[in-house]
Amino acid sequence: MVSRMSLQPSTRRFYEADSLSTEIYDARSATIIPSTSAAGDVDFYRRLAGQTGDPILEVGCGTGRVAIPLAADGHEVVGVDLSEAMLGLAERSRAALAPDVAARLSFHHADMATLSLGRDFALIIAPSRVFQFLLTTEAQRQGLAALRSHLRPSGLLVLDLFDPLLDRVVPTTDAPVRGGELVHPTTGNVVTWEVTARYPDPARQLVVEDWTTREIGSSGEVLRTDVERLTLRWSLRSEMRLLFELAGLDVVADYGDFAGNPPAYGREQVWVLRADE
Ligand SMILES: C[S@@+](CC[C@H](N)C(=O)[O-])C[C@H]1O[C@@H](n2cnc3c(N)ncnc32)[C@H](O)[C@@H]1O
Repeated sequence: MVSRMSLQPSTRRFYEADSLSTEIYDARSATIIPSTSAAGDVDFYRRLAGQTGDPILEVGCGTGRVAIPLAADGHEVVGVDLSEAMLGLAERSRAALAPDVAARLSFHHADMATLSLGRDFALIIAPSRVFQFLLTTEAQRQGLAALRSHLRPSGLLVLDLFDPLLDRVVPTTDAPVRGGELVHPTTGNVVTWEVTARYPDPARQLVVEDWTTREIGSSGEVLRTDVERLTLRWSLRSEMRLLFELAGLDVVADYGDFAGNPPAYGREQVWVLRADE
């Protein structure tokens, strides 16, 4: 079991380095997100930002998928991420924006668990399950404390997690096939992606998956292959509520999706939080 879990030499952690998977992040998100309970997330954050005002912090900002539309709406947005590769793509997109939009937006290399920016924010967001990259209770508590310390007294923190379908987070031989096909944003070649292995670890509440991405040439030949390992921690709502209580965070709202529907099993966990008094 332990040896199966060890990373193969060619297997990297998700977002760790420049990779085919990183290059297609925006294109893949655009194909996946609309058909999931995370549909409409960007519009949700835009509406909320209109209410909270600035400045806004996005932790785990990745390529700027959410931060850029917020800046385009007129908000001052700071994005932080652990991945230099994702930040490189974000910075490239920022450079192509109108100067006034680009000036409202900045991207920085930082770990959300040890964040210390020396300023506070009216709104902090962690879209696309970013919080689930904290893999232990200790890391989750450290991350919540760091985020809370960056909140203005009336500021809001939004966390988005998937609500675990319990039969999907345990070892099984009949896991649904997940994959897709899209066009590479710069080369124009077809790119396929597929979840090619699963090593769920229910005792540690971890989803561990290998995602294989291939770029295909015009004659059908495979030009590049990347295998990356995605490890996320899943938590039930009840556990999250206890973590929030320990962190001194009050739950303002708890939705099952970004349309504001009530919590529901196996959907999204969209938490809107504020620091307690
Ligand atoms: C699924 S992507 C989400 C990107 C963006 N928020 C979005 O919604 O498109 C997850 C991002 O979280 C980042 N990340 C993971 N752990 C992190 C940490 N401890 N601190 C900061 N960023 C982290 C990854 O590098 C990656 O860019």
